[in-house]
Amino acid sequence: MIFSERILKVKPSPTLAVTAMAAQLKAKGIDVIGFGAGEPDFDTPEHIKDAAISAIKSGKTKYTPVGGVPELKKAITMKFKRDNSLEYSPDEVTVNCGGKHSFYNLMQIMLNDGDEVIIPAPYWVSYPDMALLAGGVPVFINTDDASGFKITPEQLKNAITPRTRAVVINSPSNPTGSAYTLDELKALAEVIEKTGIIPISDDIYETIIYDGFKFFNIANVSDEMKRRTIVLNGVSKTYAMTGWRIGYMAGNAEIIKKIETVQGQSTSNPATISQYAAIEAISGDQTVLAHMLIAFDRRRNFIVKELNSIPGFSCRMPEGAFYVFPNVDGVYKLPGWKKVIEKYPDKYKSSSLCAYLMEEARTAVVPGIGFGDDNYFRISFATSDENIKEGMNRIRAAVEKLV
Ligand SMILES: Cc1ncc(COP(=O)(O)O)c(C=O)c1O
Repeated sequence: MIFSERILKVKPSPTLAVTAMAAQLKAKGIDVIGFGAGEPDFDTPEHIKDAAISAIKSGKTKYTPVGGVPELKKAITMKFKRDNSLEYSPDEVTVNCGGKHSFYNLMQIMLNDGDEVIIPAPYWVSYPDMALLAGGVPVFINTDDASGFKITPEQLKNAITPRTRAVVINSPSNPTGSAYTLDELKALAEVIEKTGIIPISDDIYETIIYDGFKFFNIANVSDEMKRRTIVLNGVSKTYAMTGWRIGYMAGNAEIIKKIETVQGQSTSNPATISQYAAIEAISGDQTVLAHMLIAFDRRRNFIVKELNSIPGFSCRMPEGAFYVFPNVDGVYKLPGWKKVIEKYPDKYKSSSLCAYLMEEARTAVVPGIGFGDDNYFRISFATSDENIKEGMNRIRAAVEKLV
């Protein structure tokens, strides 16, 4: 079989692979604690499910306009005004089959072969591959825990070339949980304003923030930034609706129209029933978020404290999202590390470590290399307090064997 050059450049999602591996072991009766999944462990709230059930019962089960029903577009414009102080008209908004699909569509309409997209690393695993699939070239800016996992204006300036089309800003970030302040965004905007590049602001974790951190989008910086920015968001994380597959974007009407053209020739509209559920999620009772946040915050504090007391680990407190990204460079220097490499050989140290933790600690975590940095791994704390407690004990016991 001859495959396209584009697909041969793309690798399967490492987070989905770890989640699938943990599920396989569990199905065999092996007690694995899964820290891989990027989805809230809460159920979709009842009032949202009810909205979907009434949509089915009232016959809202047919095709809709490609970019979503007008009521949903209107609800999204209302959300941007309510939560972000951003005014959009319905023709500046489009609805896609999940935020992943939003980014995919955007890459398809934006890039010509060889066009560059700047992606700060560590990054969400799918950005580079979706750029590659569209013929683009991901250009990485490396950050680390010492810099709060944030790029500086200087780094951004140095990464921009005549081929740069866009820069991705994911705040709060998957995998690091790091979030940009308004001042930091202003400083990046100063660099962007002098160029023709488009900021892509992935706000999917916008509501999952802690310690009173105030979320801003780079479009909040100035009218010029608002005019240029494409905002990506969705209902998956905020409303525990990962399976409903609703993402959306807002920005320049011409870009939105092109996105609907590519969607019209690929998936057509996102599932009609999910669209009605999303209207209720976005415009209905917002207090449902509060109990998720209390649980996430409690787990975040616990997990960071635990990780920082494990030999060779150093873990930054994230401002948002439900991930921690501990630095494990110190583990690679422990006396027993050589044995880990011998038993679990891999091109990447973080993959060897994660294989060791899977085997020795029966815990599934995602190697940092999947997110662009081998000195880390990702833990999702979107799992129960009991699982986190047990998982931390297991990881500690396995790592202490290497001391
Ligand atoms: C940073 C980021 N953006 C976008 C998405 C897309 O989520 P969905 O396709 O479920 O809307 C995810 C999901 O993991 C994510 O972590």
